[in-house]
Amino acid sequence: MEVKLLSGALGAEISGIDLKDSSKENYKKINNLLLEHKVIFFRNQDITHNEQIALAQNWGPLENHAYVKGLNNHPEIVRIVKTKEEKNQWGENWHTDVSYNIKPTKAVILKSIKIPPVGGDTCFSNMELAWETLDEEIKKKIKDKKAIHSSLGAEFFIDNYKGMSGHEKRNYDEYSNEHPIVRTHPETGKKILYVNWTYTKQIIGLDKIESDEILKKIFEHQARLDLTCRFNWTENTVAIWDNRSVIHYAIADFYPGRGLGHERIMDRIAIEGDQPH
Ligand code: SIN
Repeated sequence: MEVKLLSGALGAEISGIDLKDSSKENYKKINNLLLEHKVIFFRNQDITHNEQIALAQNWGPLENHAYVKGLNNHPEIVRIVKTKEEKNQWGENWHTDVSYNIKPTKAVILKSIKIPPVGGDTCFSNMELAWETLDEEIKKKIKDKKAIHSSLGAEFFIDNYKGMSGHEKRNYDEYSNEHPIVRTHPETGKKILYVNWTYTKQIIGLDKIESDEILKKIFEHQARLDLTCRFNWTENTVAIWDNRSVIHYAIADFYPGRGLGHERIMDRIAIEGDQPH
């Protein structure tokens, strides 16, 4: 097995592991890599839909997305599509997947199907490191507080992401839940800064002005480049991220003459998580 680190903060590209091997030992090996690096990538993975589903099921029951329908024959798989004409793409700002749910996603298995010749990288930021390096004054103010996460932050995808229409469930209801701002990772016991730019709306117990000021500082901190890694996709790459301890950002750098004029297609499977505590 070979492990190539993507940055000093998180992320690793792994080779020499067979993702089709569904033994307990193989799952343990992959999960240990995931807990250590928080997001891991495997290039040149010629796995079928069923094999991607079987891989994901190692982590537990699979999740249905509130807003997006899965593939007809494989409802567990949500196909993320950016058409040739689109400059936008799903997931294009810092977020934790579905943090507005009472039990947000544990982990995601994303397989690249079609990748533009340039553009469309994905960035990840390490929220364990973000907590460790956060300003002490801010830490004191937020450490026992909760924040409201709302799915209304996601509403724009319905209008902006044409490639995703047809995948929509046409349910625009708001989902909203409170979560601790600092959660404890259920497997590693580490503290994690658990807010994100897309879905976190307000710190409970602070007035809106103070809450906005603190959240703004936290969001800037989370986006510090030394907390991040950036992955340049090739087709048939499988990524697995720990949605409890990273935030991520799919870069929509599709400008005329560059990534524009090309499709970007990803197959996403999400695994059910726990209620953050
Ligand atoms: C997502 O935000 O879930 C999608 C990430 C990507 O397409 O790179």
